[in-house]
Amino acid sequence: MSADESATQELERLLAEAEAALAQTRSAQELERVRVKYLGRKSRVAEVLKTLGSLTPAERAEAGKSANQFKTALEARLEARRKALEAQPAAALDVTLPGRAVVQGRLHPVTQTTEAILALFAPLGFEVIEGPEAELEWYNFDALNIPKDHPSRESFDTFFVEAPSPQPAKGKLLLRSHTSPVQVRVMERRRPPLRIVVPGRVYRPDPLDPSHSFMFHQVEGLMVDDRTSFADLKGVLQQFLQGLFGPKTQTRFRPHFFPFTEPSAEVDIACSACEGAGCSTCGRKGWLEIMGCGMVHPNVFKAAGYDPARVQGFAFGMGVERIAMLTHGVADIRLFFENDLRFLEQF
Ligand code: PHE
Repeated sequence: MSADESATQELERLLAEAEAALAQTRSAQELERVRVKYLGRKSRVAEVLKTLGSLTPAERAEAGKSANQFKTALEARLEARRKALEAQPAAALDVTLPGRAVVQGRLHPVTQTTEAILALFAPLGFEVIEGPEAELEWYNFDALNIPKDHPSRESFDTFFVEAPSPQPAKGKLLLRSHTSPVQVRVMERRRPPLRIVVPGRVYRPDPLDPSHSFMFHQVEGLMVDDRTSFADLKGVLQQFLQGLFGPKTQTRFRPHFFPFTEPSAEVDIACSACEGAGCSTCGRKGWLEIMGCGMVHPNVFKAAGYDPARVQGFAFGMGVERIAMLTHGVADIRLFFENDLRFLEQF
């Protein structure tokens, strides 16, 4: 307050100031801030009211009147502004402002590739089924015709779980080393015909390098019917691989061994980088190994409670990261698990 300004003049000036502040308010909180500033315990008007006792009767009458007028006037304006704000649609919309960019998330490349794989099997009638990652020895090995003395049963090839087995008769608990155990779990509870694809995580204690990770993803497939042939297997996988890598993709079925299929094969596609001529992508072979497959072994049917004399089936399994690496030209599997946004945002 300037020396020659009376309390009355000052309050008039403050009222004008408060009115200007009120006109700027856009919300109840802003309104409350104005109220506290001009009418609250630490406001000028509160001070004026506190000092009334030290004034002469004439001064007191004048200052008291001004203070009361100030309060009444400002309270009325606050109330009017509150009503006006309530009646208004939230904030005035300025359509000339540039829009705010929406930050949109996306699916992880491994999820995208998994979904692309499953989508190619859907029109062939394969339904999606999942199974447990913490699996019993029986399903991961025995039921899949992997005998007790098979090298992949050695503990260094499997992560065992320390928790007690929920079914000790079916062995210890482990992190499944492939998605094939789900074949047995599904056959146990369902009758043929069956056509399933099984996506999921699998675990192997491999040292990390550009093509190995202790956790990765597979998609398993299983078809069982009273008559299912190796020709059906070839037809389904050929259609799948041409859907994934393009209609001109050449495929090759190379004899192989898996304990749970007989006969077994590995499936190669002609190297997409050199079209079969041989380059660094395919290790000069001209072919890229894509998946394993074969006709379901009779012992697997028996373990699942099927009569191998009455059903036939094929199974296949593939690594999702490997396929994502080939389709996107990614050189190191570890990139999928480091969660570096500079990598992930490219997909
Ligand atoms: N389970 C095999 C693996 O992990 C892949 C496979 C599945 C092969 C089904 C044949 C049939 O390598």
